Amino acid sequence: MKRVLLFILPILIIVTLSFTIFGIMQVKFTEERLMDDLKRKARTVDESLELSARYILRDNDLKSANRLVESFQNRERLQGCVIYDKNGQILAITKRISDWKNKEKPYISDILTTKNSRGTLEKFGYYSVYSYILPVLDDEENVLGLVEVIYDTSYLFTTLTELWRRISISLIILILAITLVASLIQRQIFILPVRRLTQWFMHFQKGETEKLRPFEEKGEFGKLISEVEQVALSLRVARKVVTEDAHVRVQNEGLWTESKLKDLVRAKLGENALVVVSNREPYLHITDEVTGIVKCTRPASGVVTAIDPILRACGGTWIAHGAANADRKFVNSKNKLGVPPEDTRYILKRVWLSKEEENGYYYGFSNEGLWPLCHITHTRPIFRETDWLMYKKVNQKFADSVLEELPAKNPFVFIQDYHFTLLAKFIKEKRPDATIALFWHIPWPNPESFAICPYQKEILEGMLSCDLIGFHVQFHCNNFLDTTNRLIECRVDTEKFSVVRGNKETLVRAFPISVDGYTYGKTSKSETDQINKIRKDLELENKITAVSVERIDYTKGIIERILAIDRFLEKYPQYKNRFVFIQLAAPSRIHIKRYHELIGEIDELVEKVNWKYSDGNWKPIIYLKRHFSPEEIRPYYMLGDFCIVSSLHDGMNLVAKEYVASKNNSNGALILSCFTGASRELTDAIQINPYSIEEFADAIKFAIEMPLEEKRKRMENMRKVVAENNVYLWAANIISELTGLKKT
Ligand code: F6P
Repeated sequence: MKRVLLFILPILIIVTLSFTIFGIMQVKFTEERLMDDLKRKARTVDESLELSARYILRDNDLKSANRLVESFQNRERLQGCVIYDKNGQILAITKRISDWKNKEKPYISDILTTKNSRGTLEKFGYYSVYSYILPVLDDEENVLGLVEVIYDTSYLFTTLTELWRRISISLIILILAITLVASLIQRQIFILPVRRLTQWFMHFQKGETEKLRPFEEKGEFGKLISEVEQVALSLRVARKVVTEDAHVRVQNEGLWTESKLKDLVRAKLGENALVVVSNREPYLHITDEVTGIVKCTRPASGVVTAIDPILRACGGTWIAHGAANADRKFVNSKNKLGVPPEDTRYILKRVWLSKEEENGYYYGFSNEGLWPLCHITHTRPIFRETDWLMYKKVNQKFADSVLEELPAKNPFVFIQDYHFTLLAKFIKEKRPDATIALFWHIPWPNPESFAICPYQKEILEGMLSCDLIGFHVQFHCNNFLDTTNRLIECRVDTEKFSVVRGNKETLVRAFPISVDGYTYGKTSKSETDQINKIRKDLELENKITAVSVERIDYTKGIIERILAIDRFLEKYPQYKNRFVFIQLAAPSRIHIKRYHELIGEIDELVEKVNWKYSDGNWKPIIYLKRHFSPEEIRPYYMLGDFCIVSSLHDGMNLVAKEYVASKNNSNGALILSCFTGASRELTDAIQINPYSIEEFADAIKFAIEMPLEEKRKRMENMRKVVAENNVYLWAANIISELTGLKKT
């Protein structure tokens, strides 16, 4: 109420003052106009009487004089008329104003002398009257007498009072209208939005709404709403992390767990929340083009598999490209949302890219240039200057987005992958106090291979702005050190395992990435149901089943795998009708020619092999080409008698570790390419060279025929490795290393 008054009062004062001044002027003007009118009328009447009065006075005709004055007896405003003789004595007077004769009239003698007419306002009893007096002259200009008309002026007062009344009523109506309108405006503009914002805030905190933006608003209020949105989101995420704390205490204290990592992050980073950057976002909002229904899915991505559990545990902000078609609908004014959507644990900030930016930076430079450069698969890298310029631009764009999120003191940034070789440099230009780690999720080639990149120097210099660079395996660390040593001016410290350029030192370390191994507990009822359903739908009863899961990528050795299955069935025909291979394959990077071609090649080969062996009821390969969520994939892992990972070159390969983590009955085998990072740790897998189709086919036979006991033993060993070297240990090692470098 007080605020409403503060808002309205000045308006009312101004309006009242203006109206009063206007009223006074209006009344004054009306008064003048009415007076002029009256004077004019009085003079006209008086002049019209002059001729009759001349005869009356010349003939001293008293009778006519009385008749004349009495003719004014019943006029409304004209009160009466007086005829004076040449001595100023009253000859005749209208009866109604007979008291006029008692009034002192000092002006009479003046008029008789000067012979000038005169009009004045006079007091007559309680009234005010207007008298107009005119000398009556004969032909020789001698005064015969005077004629006076008396007008009642009280109507003037009544008219002006009425005018004031109207002005006052208008003013009151105006004040009421202004008060009402101003209150409504105030309610509409301030009170209702604030009330809506408050209600949204309360509901959002209680988890009663998932709307990330209360409503759209521009200007200063919009800025306030935006700030409130960010605080609400951070609070919600923080609250979730705190409540979860008690729940997730470890089953086995010896292992690295979510809660252990959370404690470590708090101890090491303190109030500084983790800021993670990657190209691929962990949650995509996709509108189904046919049904129009929006679904939130997790992409097929090693980065997401590894980093999502870490941020779920520790909270923080993950900055990534908002690439899905409905992503923009699910962010607040700062492009943020809480994820996972059903259980918000951390903040995802989406960065928007134009089509040109995505083409140049993602499809072009990252995936037609750096990706084949780093993987030894004999796919020629393509480097275009336009792609490189876009790559630089997008790195700068991400840097700007990161800079907005950094806390005032000692920020930590954890960058993922080859999409962001220049990001650390751009961040450090503005925030040299930031401690930055880059994890390279793919292999690092030898110096000769890397040297074909025309932008080698800028890339290496950009990467060396980091404080820590991590690779999956020591071999890739060595390759990186060799590359810097050969291609740019720097000093490689082989004892500390670092690269020194000028005053800047960058540590290079191997951190084998993993999955959250210990969480894959007992098979639930719904999982058993799903497994049974898949078995039934795909007619897997009494079949030996192998599974593979991946993005459709030429590095994954999918073609080699199908060739090996072909050779296996050719060589060991006893397994016809008894063996089924299920390939779950998510189409990926489809706008790149090589990927597009690969999809066609796989389709053709699957068709060819199935045609070759199928007998009407059975076909060896079940090729399911679509995106599968982690929840959908798990039953396939569980039902698979063995899993095939045949990458031609792979930084780590988390499918291998996920399969092992899923095999809670230890009844399963893993065929694993020796060109994956995972093969260094999972030494109990059946290791293969995927290029050797013969060896590969034999490995399939070996996996099928392996005695159950050996299978169990190998799987238990691998499960131990995955449980112990899980993703929490991976993150703990990186964070400990990173915080060890923290600037004071
Ligand atoms: O693991 C390597 C990687 O390139 C990740 O960076 C990425 O998340 C994943 O493969 C999937 O690739 P994309 O994000 O291009 O679909």
